[in-house]
Amino acid sequence: KEECLILSIETSCDETSVAVIKNGNEILSNVVSTQIESHKRFGGVVPEVASRLHVEQMTVVIEEALQQANVTYSDLSAVAVTEGPGLIGALLIGVNAAKAIAFAHGLPLIGVHHIAGHIYANQLVKPMEFPLLALVVSGGHTELVYMKEHGSFEVIGETRDDAAGEAYDKVARTLDLPYPGGPHIDRLADEGEASIRFPRAWLEEGSYDFSFSGLKSAVINYMHNATQRGEEVKPENVAASFQESVIEVIVTKTIQAAKEYGVKQILLAGGVAANKGLRTTLTNKVEALEGVELIIPPLSLCTDNAAMIGAAAYIRYQQGKMSSLDLNGSPGLDL
Ligand code: KG4
Ligand code: ZN
Repeated sequence: KEECLILSIETSCDETSVAVIKNGNEILSNVVSTQIESHKRFGGVVPEVASRLHVEQMTVVIEEALQQANVTYSDLSAVAVTEGPGLIGALLIGVNAAKAIAFAHGLPLIGVHHIAGHIYANQLVKPMEFPLLALVVSGGHTELVYMKEHGSFEVIGETRDDAAGEAYDKVARTLDLPYPGGPHIDRLADEGEASIRFPRAWLEEGSYDFSFSGLKSAVINYMHNATQRGEEVKPENVAASFQESVIEVIVTKTIQAAKEYGVKQILLAGGVAANKGLRTTLTNKVEALEGVELIIPPLSLCTDNAAMIGAAAYIRYQQGKMSSLDLNGSPGLDL
């Protein structure tokens, strides 16, 4: 086949998504069925509920993706799926669907790491130039990944406790904002002033790791003390102060790493990439760096989606790194 058509599946958390990707960089379809409404009343993702909803949605979303792309199984070159990390029950639904399709239609199967997917979302926007640095900030991950070539990932920094998005969601909960709280904090922060001095976790000199649990506790304590003293709390100021602390640390470490590793590109990925404050601050700081290009994918490609999995799978396809039919879901998979 001259053109490469990959059907890709993503079910690692609370989005059931299927895409058809042509030659690794063209989106023929990218259907996302989100479960957010079902998890909202629990204040977070309930794994058992997620698995059940993936089962209900899986075949419908696959059919929809094929239809929108105007292709049939016989046009496909391969089937790709997120094998991990993520919720085991959720991962298994996607992995089993992909295996069934691969087996039934005699197609190669390609297991993809979820974070590789987030990074390769950028490939759908612009070709990668190496070496590069990817900043992955989502509800489950906060990672700085150095890449010297396609398919090569070196995690140079990661969170030691909460992910950035997780911290946003927890702080939002203390401010009585609905789940997921990130977008609400972002909007509130815009209206407030960063008047409260919350801590910044820089960790050891030269470390690119992150920690957000201390900051989260500081916000909770602040709210608790203010309530006890009967002081008026300005939620917009709490949001702005919290956000300033998160962004200052993330952006400073990213810029430092970009300089140390002499990268040509910085890629932003993951749901928190939607954050206006983060986008603006990072854009300004990267502008001051000579010869470094910043790429931020559109929001639909930053949050969980299958198109990014198809883009990452294409590289493995070209490198001949296929998976066998005994592929399993792997909740703690290393990049
Ligand atoms: O990548 P994603 O869709 O799912 C994971 O793989 O985790 O990221 C979801 C996370 C949630 O924690 C959500 O609150 C956060 O991204 N988020 C934001 C914003 N939009 C989404 N955080 C801060 N500011 C935003 N505008
Ligand atoms: Zn994700």
